[in-house]
Amino acid sequence: MDETPTLDVERVRASFDFVGRGRIATNNAASTQLPRELLQLYAELVPQYENVHRGQSDASALTTARFEASYDTIAQWICAPNRRTISIHRKTTEAINLVMYTLLTEFRDGDNVVTTMMEHNSDYVPWYALCREILPRFGRTVECRIARFDHESGELDLGHLASLVDDRTKLVCCTGASNFLGTKPPLADIRRIADGSGYRQPNGEICSRLLVDAAQLMPSALIDVRAMDVDYLAFSFHKFIAPLGVGVLYAKEHLREDSLPFLYGGDMIAEGMVTPDHVGYNVLPWKYSAGTPNILGVIVSAQAMRLAIDLVGADPSKTWFRSADPIPRRIVGSTMSRIGDYTASLTRRAVSSLTRVPGLRIHGVPAGVARAPLVAFTVDGHDPFEIARALNDRGVESRAGCHCATLAHHDLGLDPPASCRISFSFYNTAEDVDRAVEAVGQAVSVPVR
Ligand SMILES: Cc1ncc(COP(=O)(O)O)c(C=O)c1O
Repeated sequence: MDETPTLDVERVRASFDFVGRGRIATNNAASTQLPRELLQLYAELVPQYENVHRGQSDASALTTARFEASYDTIAQWICAPNRRTISIHRKTTEAINLVMYTLLTEFRDGDNVVTTMMEHNSDYVPWYALCREILPRFGRTVECRIARFDHESGELDLGHLASLVDDRTKLVCCTGASNFLGTKPPLADIRRIADGSGYRQPNGEICSRLLVDAAQLMPSALIDVRAMDVDYLAFSFHKFIAPLGVGVLYAKEHLREDSLPFLYGGDMIAEGMVTPDHVGYNVLPWKYSAGTPNILGVIVSAQAMRLAIDLVGADPSKTWFRSADPIPRRIVGSTMSRIGDYTASLTRRAVSSLTRVPGLRIHGVPAGVARAPLVAFTVDGHDPFEIARALNDRGVESRAGCHCATLAHHDLGLDPPASCRISFSFYNTAEDVDRAVEAVGQAVSVPVR
């Protein structure tokens, strides 16, 4: 199990105060920890900040410039063509709800949405609500179809998904990485299926739209929205070392131009363009930025991406944190391949050790196959919540429950619909993994009642 680390984890850990408290922080699929640099940056911004797009002071101009530059950083990170394709929300959940609400008026009677049985509730319940609760009130019937996954391999059943997509499929919604099974569905194949649906969109294009929930993909993988050719892609910064409360939606520019706004109010309106009879919307991306945004959260979150470059040593020639320089693709690529390779090595270590625990079943992707950096398991005769509490007693942080992947837990027949999950970020160590696995072994060695 000797693997050469792809980054200097001690250098990474030196930025995180939780380390000094001896915490084994292995619940990173829920939220990651904050590095000290970002807290310091936040504190430094506080005496200087003002609202954005709403003041003529130097402070407002400076904050506006920093805020707008954050959109550019985010766009560069995911290879989006420009900031007009980016909107910032409170989290992935809100970003996906935006897609649902902005498409609401476009659905025609008899249309359908195809999603999967491995989705997080944030990428299922909005479509359930749309089809079962909202559109019926307008007298429209739209079906929500759910593609199966294979219970042994955790793979999405592509054949089943393809059979559900037809010329009435407006949208296909799929996770980039399951937060329970660890599966990374083949998004290029799903794009091809969506492209071949025969659905006529309002602008005349013949294809189904594709939405990717990248909440668990973005923290350990290089995202290239153009190469992926996704129509929509959502993620949350709180799973990538940044503060809570900032999520991103990428959407193709023509979709943003054509669709109605999500929230209505200040700053999404063009200056002075409100009369009793007409409201003119602001240019992109501000059309989707109603009300005062989470200004400092956005600036700090974009800087988290720059800090990640420095923490993993992806570019020894320069410090990226606090700069606003355009980030070359190769630097983003090198950062994410270091993080991806490193967290994958921790995950392999966890999987291969956990498989030796008697009665333990890892759900989803089997040992030896690449997965998102998380492992969810159950142990015969043991309540996952008790396992998680026993881990906590041994200093190991985990999560028990359905992780909002409720459909998949029911589909697997888990009773209660719960598993215990450990998940890794690029500040975890091999020792963290070993401590976690040892704690699982101890927790379940208690005789079954
Ligand atoms: C795959 C997936 N999608 C969506 C979400 C929701 O993210 P947020 O709580 O930031 O809205 C999560 C969070 O765990 C997730 O893992």
